[in-house]
Amino acid sequence: MRANDSRLAETIAFIARFYDSRKYGYEGLEGYRKSADLRKFTFIIEELRRLNLLRRDRTVFLDLGCADGRVNLLLSYFVRKSLGIEIDSLILDEYEPRKQALIWELEGMDLLAPPGNISLFAGSSLERLTYDRIAEQTGIHFTDVDLFYTYITLHDLFGEMIASNARDGALFLVYGFHKVLPRYDGLEILIPDVGSQSIATLYRRVG
Ligand SMILES: C[S@@+](CC[C@H](N)C(=O)[O-])C[C@H]1O[C@@H](n2cnc3c(N)ncnc32)[C@H](O)[C@@H]1O
Repeated sequence: MRANDSRLAETIAFIARFYDSRKYGYEGLEGYRKSADLRKFTFIIEELRRLNLLRRDRTVFLDLGCADGRVNLLLSYFVRKSLGIEIDSLILDEYEPRKQALIWELEGMDLLAPPGNISLFAGSSLERLTYDRIAEQTGIHFTDVDLFYTYITLHDLFGEMIASNARDGALFLVYGFHKVLPRYDGLEILIPDVGSQSIATLYRRVG
């Protein structure tokens, strides 16, 4: 393994430990808030990279309910743009201070700082206006998104929205189901158990 690869792997493992020691699981104003397990996520990322489905120079990622942006932060090292939308602005307010605390620790350990390609937005992922704001501020439209993500939240409505409005071949990563997998009209299951963690399924929009 090259030195750069091992530094990246160390950085990612550190970030996973950092956020996994600060997990949430409670009923909030906008439904259930629960944090994905970032250690498991590292295996998901590994498989997506192996299949060339995550490209640092190309991929646009969107977390449809990003909370404190922890998945955005982890993914930022592997994509061109890491976008997130969070309906509860108090939860979104946790993003900056937590990221700063993380960066401070990364610097102390001579690990890699996040590449600065993250943009998070307050609003609803179900509203057109939110995407208009994202396009205004980043130049990225809904049809530019390569990989959508949700941790169970509104997965059925997001599945419909992606089937209706995303580009052909767009991917939808759904975290939180095992064994009995949801089906969405217009999306096919590409990988039933991404990263072999019994937690995430990858769907693809078919035309
Ligand atoms: C289960 S948490 C997932 C957090 C994070 N994506 C993760 O995987 O760790 C779901 C989040 O979605 C937010 N949410 C719920 N409805 C939403 C909507 N319509 N638009 C954007 N965010 C929403 C909730 O406030 C909550 O923070």
